[in-house]
Amino acid sequence: MRMGDVATIVGARPQFVKCALVSKRLRASGQRELLIHTGQHYDDNLSAVFFDDLEIPAPDVNLGVGSGTHGRQTGSALIAIEEVLLARRPDVVVVYGDTNSTLAGALASTKLRIPTVHVESGLRSFDRSMPEELNRVATDHLSDLLLCHSESAADQLRREAVGGGIQVVGDVMREAQACFLPRALARRRTLLERLGLDELGYTLLTVHRPSNADDPERLRRILAWCADRRALTVFPAHPRVAAAAKALLDERGENRIRLIPPLGYLDALALLTAANGVLTDSGGLQKEAFFLGVPCVTLREETEWRETLGGGRNALLGRRLDHAALDAAWLTVAGGQQQRPAPDAAELENLFGPANASSRIAEAIAQCS
Ligand code: UD1
Repeated sequence: MRMGDVATIVGARPQFVKCALVSKRLRASGQRELLIHTGQHYDDNLSAVFFDDLEIPAPDVNLGVGSGTHGRQTGSALIAIEEVLLARRPDVVVVYGDTNSTLAGALASTKLRIPTVHVESGLRSFDRSMPEELNRVATDHLSDLLLCHSESAADQLRREAVGGGIQVVGDVMREAQACFLPRALARRRTLLERLGLDELGYTLLTVHRPSNADDPERLRRILAWCADRRALTVFPAHPRVAAAAKALLDERGENRIRLIPPLGYLDALALLTAANGVLTDSGGLQKEAFFLGVPCVTLREETEWRETLGGGRNALLGRRLDHAALDAAWLTVAGGQQQRPAPDAAELENLFGPANASSRIAEAIAQCS
């Protein structure tokens, strides 16, 4: 492996999960890594806890871009990243996923002609109203090396005739889950006791997409459906949605839904393993539920993770959001007498590529540096 200076750009929760094992591999193989945190996520429970849980070294630089409109957030990150890259001149830049930090990183680095690697490339929801879809498409077409979880993602990039090289490396979130699962399970009992929950006696709810979180009527319908069920619902609420959710629950005098602060990686994983199902609009959580065989209803019209839809383990809600649609989707994934088994290793490999993604990604990065 060649030794070089690798700049890793992260900024939001899912990116901390994606970079953790890769950073470890890069450093173990003697690469020098400059870890740049844009500061898109700045609350401790959206940022610091992930660095602790996943043992990611403290960022070398935090650009403190914070919240704002898409233009302001992406623009502030672009200006600040460019300054760091000009000062430090890394051999290669790595960006992850599809957030505004990803796009800002890819734009800054490709314009400086620094080889740029995009991890989790080739995903498409084909819904251009999602900011993440625009970030993905632009980042894929800018980057020099596109690392995909599967052949189907690679095929998508070929169809789009992207300019960069394409490699299939596997899914690094799958590897992270397998790696950190024992630690999550070790804290599960204490966590369930603290929250007053029984194993399989609750459903996990997360909502943070603007299409749900910023629409009071949609949020009200989701909460009303949860409140009418026998099982409790646990709702770790992203700051984007916490105040609106609390107001709706207070208005109903609702106590079947436990609204709690956002969870770190290990607590979220622990809670997922003991849930009787998940309702979410997150991309990552759909996939994490699928790996574990936890039934999932995705509160969206489409998903970039279509491989999770086979086998009745994940159901897309679709256009309608009302009691009947939620009932039908829940029945699809959790209606049987017995919970479906988790996908086996062969199925996972078929859908999500090789299990050792972080080594393959680190190796591919080293080839660029
Ligand atoms: C971002 C990503 C999304 C990802 C999600 C994971 C984009 C376009 N979206 O969405 O793809 O799934 O992160 O959580 O990049 N806020 C805080 N504290 C924080 C961060 C945010 O209070 O530490 C609040 C602010 O009011 C902010 C809002 O949350 O305006 C939204 O944050 P932002 O980073 O813009 O987008 P996310 O919804 O977190």
